[in-house]
This record gives sequence, C-alpha cells and structure tokens, in this order.
Amino acid sequence: MTKAILLALLMAGGAAAAATPREMITTYAAEAARQAPGFQPSARRGAEFYARRFAVSEKMPACVSCHTDSPVQAGRHVVTGKAIKPLAPRAEAARFSDPAKTEKWFRRNCTEVLGRECSAAEKADFVQFLAEGL
Ligand code: HEC
Repeated sequence: MTKAILLALLMAGGAAAAATPREMITTYAAEAARQAPGFQPSARRGAEFYARRFAVSEKMPACVSCHTDSPVQAGRHVVTGKAIKPLAPRAEAARFSDPAKTEKWFRRNCTEVLGRECSAAEKADFVQFLAEGL
C-alpha cells in the first residue's frame, strides 16, 4: 500500500468518528443546498423550529417538551422522567461531536415529534441555533 492511500484511509476513519458542530452544519447545509440551491443555515429559523409546537404527538408536541425552552439548560424526558443534558455545545461540550449519535437522535425525535424525519435544511438550522445561539 502506498503512503498516500494509507494516509487517505486514516483521514477518512478519523472524519467518520468525530466531528465539530461547525462540520455538521456544513454537511447538512451542503445536502440542503442540493435540494434548494443557495441554502444558508439560519439560527433564527433553528430557534423557531426548536420552540415550535407540532402537536402530532400529545405526549411530546415539541422539541422543548424534553429539551426545555432553553438549550443551555438540562432537560427531562416527558415520558420516562430521565434527565437529559443540555443540547447547546457551550453548556455540554460533547454535543454534535459524534455524527452517528446526532443522526440517531434526529431520526428518533423528529419521527416522534413531527411524524416524519427532519430535512437536511431543518437539521442545519437546528445545529446552527444550538451551536451559535441567536
Ligand atoms: C421525548 C423526549 C424528547 C423530545 C420530545 C425530543 N428529544 Fe431530542 N433527545 C432526547 C433524548 C433522551 C436524547 C439523548 C440523550 C442525550 O443525548 O442526552 C436526545 C438527544 C437529541 C440530539 C442529539 C444531540 C447530540 O448530542 O448530537 C438531537 C440532535 C436531538 N435530541 C434533537 C431533537 C429535536 C430536533 C427534537 C424536536 C423535533 C427533539 N430532539 C425532541 C429526548 C427528546
């Protein structure tokens, strides 16, 4: 194996295992821009999404049902009562550092709250709001 290939493999492995919130925003925004050219992530739209009541599920009508009105505060699962650490990386450094974990929870929570998966645009806005605030 040549050195160049080995290096490329090592870098690909590293990129899959860890990420920063900024890298996740960039990835989701690039995906969103393929559907809507010129898409730019918006913390304001992310804040609106975070607070919106979708009312698809009576038990969990909104993201704030478990994550509270403030993303820097610890939340509580409305059904199990289990504590949830804050979603904002400035309050909980491990947030949005593991793409597989982030995707898993987006899939689960969006399906429960919206009755469908979140779009790449919604994810880009959501992470932008959590990482950078308004
Ligand atoms: C029924 C309670 C509940 C609701 C409602 C809820 N979540 Fe969550 N969420 C959780 C739990 C539990 C975790 C995982 C525990 C943890 O990471 O602390 C989590 C974690 C996450 C993560 C992972 C963040 C990371 O560390 O990368 C994302 C993203 C997320 N939620 C997005 C949402 C969005 C978007 C909504 C609204 C559409 C939402 N959640 C609504 C309970 C909820």
